[in-house]
Amino acid sequence: MKSFSYLLLTGLISITPFALNAELINLSTPKTSLVLDATKGQPLRILHYGDKLNKQDMDGFRTSTSVHHEAYPAYGIYPQGEAALSVTHSDGNRTTQLEVIDVETEEIDGATVTKVKMKDKFYPFEVNVNYKVRPNYDVIETWVDLTNNEKGNVTLNRFMSGYLPIRYGNVWLSSLYGTWANEAELTEEPLSHGVKMIKNKDGVRNSHTAHGEVMFSLDGKPQENTGRIIGAALCYPGNYKLFVDTDDSDFHHFFAGINEENSEYHLKKGETFTTPELALTYSEEGLSGASRNFHKWGRDNRLHAGNKERKVLLNSWEGVYFDINEPVMAGMMEDIASMGGELFVMDDGWFGDKYPRNVDNSSLGDWVVDKNKLPQGINGLLETAKKNGVSFGIWIEPEMANTVSELYEKHPEYIVKAPNRPVIEGRGGTQVVLDLSNPKVQDIVFEVVDTLMTKYPEIDYIKWDANAPIMEHGSQYLSADNQSHLYIDYHKGLMKTLDRIREAHPDVTIQACASGGGRANWGILPWFDEFWTSDNNDALQRVYMQWGTSYFFPAIAMASHISASPNHQTFRRIPTKFRADVAMSGRLGLEMQPKDMNDEDRAICKQAIEDYKKIRPIVQFGDLYRLQSPFDKKGVASLMYVTPEKEDAVFFWWKTETFMNQQLPRIPMAGLDPEKEYVVTELNRIDNEPLPFEGKKFTGKFLMSNGLEIPLTYKVDYHKNTDFASRVLRLTETK
Ligand code: GLA
Repeated sequence: MKSFSYLLLTGLISITPFALNAELINLSTPKTSLVLDATKGQPLRILHYGDKLNKQDMDGFRTSTSVHHEAYPAYGIYPQGEAALSVTHSDGNRTTQLEVIDVETEEIDGATVTKVKMKDKFYPFEVNVNYKVRPNYDVIETWVDLTNNEKGNVTLNRFMSGYLPIRYGNVWLSSLYGTWANEAELTEEPLSHGVKMIKNKDGVRNSHTAHGEVMFSLDGKPQENTGRIIGAALCYPGNYKLFVDTDDSDFHHFFAGINEENSEYHLKKGETFTTPELALTYSEEGLSGASRNFHKWGRDNRLHAGNKERKVLLNSWEGVYFDINEPVMAGMMEDIASMGGELFVMDDGWFGDKYPRNVDNSSLGDWVVDKNKLPQGINGLLETAKKNGVSFGIWIEPEMANTVSELYEKHPEYIVKAPNRPVIEGRGGTQVVLDLSNPKVQDIVFEVVDTLMTKYPEIDYIKWDANAPIMEHGSQYLSADNQSHLYIDYHKGLMKTLDRIREAHPDVTIQACASGGGRANWGILPWFDEFWTSDNNDALQRVYMQWGTSYFFPAIAMASHISASPNHQTFRRIPTKFRADVAMSGRLGLEMQPKDMNDEDRAICKQAIEDYKKIRPIVQFGDLYRLQSPFDKKGVASLMYVTPEKEDAVFFWWKTETFMNQQLPRIPMAGLDPEKEYVVTELNRIDNEPLPFEGKKFTGKFLMSNGLEIPLTYKVDYHKNTDFASRVLRLTETK
């Protein structure tokens, strides 16, 4: 534990005495400041979150405002306003009154954690509000530890991760909603009086229906590359609640944390409850600026192996669904290898002995190879993969069982189920959720991965799926008194299990899939290398879904596959070129039976893989600049990635609709160095002749003021014309 004054010297924290005993704490990142008043004997107050304040600003700024909200408002005294914390103390008292006792700082792995220690004025109930600041990231993480030192149990009724007052004005909220196969749709709306709530109650998959991340534009309708933005991401994989209460004060009051509904939590004497982190960012470079802050912070600090390039893969699901067998798997491995891919992933359908998994109504829980389909077992597949020079990956769904499974027959007590109620069954009419609050179930889930990886250490990739919500509120493990702990203890159990898995198997790549994009959240990504963005692979709809997802998550984590045409979800026919150009803007993969492709399509995929390998570092580690939103319905969407040194960039342009003689906006680029000169090369070219600006040089200034004129169609042989058009341009600095 470092002394507070030691940290002052680092410049990450500074304090300014304001009144007698007042301690202003200025938590600063390269471009932002969070200013708190941690005066002892008073509740902690928040004075500023936004641009970076220097010493002079700090000296003067208290005179610029008389407003100082509690940083973690507790319920009970003047209970009319919303609170971040609501507690029933051991004697039944429902009021809490906090005062600062002390401030401590600690350096953990290069980050500085400031812990403001508070206590109830009467009860021995402690509330530590924590802030983590990392020197090179404009993101501040905040979370709270709640400790009961009272004589008896304390009940936590609400226990948010954080609260932020945002000054009343023309503030707009950007948030994501959606559903299966239509994830991450964007909503932008001005905040008006009343409450806007964003929540999830699925129990397992928390980024279907809505997302636990939001952006606030402080300057009216949000813009991509200008304007002040506050971004907030709740780092939690379970049920959440984010809400903004715009009351008659001068503020929009933003709260984010675990959804407390039906989740009151009992703390025994001596126990501590730690909330998940709420990550906050501030940018004056618009929505894209806030996204870049999240991406950089997330890649370097939260996403598992966030700095390791991801492989180009073929997943078997849409190619063959459950029809897995050795020759088909071998054919797929050979095909992806011949196209330049690096990994083959065998999806659902490979397991089950007593109950073979031929459709989705059985076998989850029985993670043994179906010898009828795969007589040589996993070893045989690994050998074939090796022969073809590709890595091998496998699908599992370890948190789940089917009532038609050997696991369920032996252990019906392991599933989530309410007493005196019939079992509620999900997918396939038989799927049930294992009760991860139970340590024995945690062991089973650990063993699914551990056994696979111990027996077959060459497995390179796991697709970890989760295809059911909690369908009835009941734990056969938790006591009657603690049934309300189910949602939270499920996730505590999951995270504990994932810790064990990662400790034993740090190198295997693991994808978080949950009925498609149900697990895109920063709470799960410390253990996962990527997430499945959606079960909908329709490239046109993907432009929208990936746009929304990119608000908070970097391309390296966003799995994006070229699938068949007609598309299996929308039945839209989209040419391979467009499908490839969309998939290349995320973590590229294929998901189809390559045998069904004609030579021309195969050549396009091969070219796309070759080109993707060239731009992979730019897409996977570069800075994202979104340029033209598909949600603006201008007929085109466009974004680009630029390396941090700004010497290499890749520009994506997708037409989202086609009408004759339509006028599309010309797209000025962003993020380049105005002084540098860039040469333009088209990737994935299908035209008979190059674009007029192919190989030509332009300054960054020109490209950012004017953009390039992108033709509406291709110059191809007549029969190859389609109503889709897209372009991928690489911009390389010339020296
Ligand atoms: C879920 C996933 C799919 C696929 C199937 C397999 O729906 O999202 O990608 O893995 O399960 O059953």
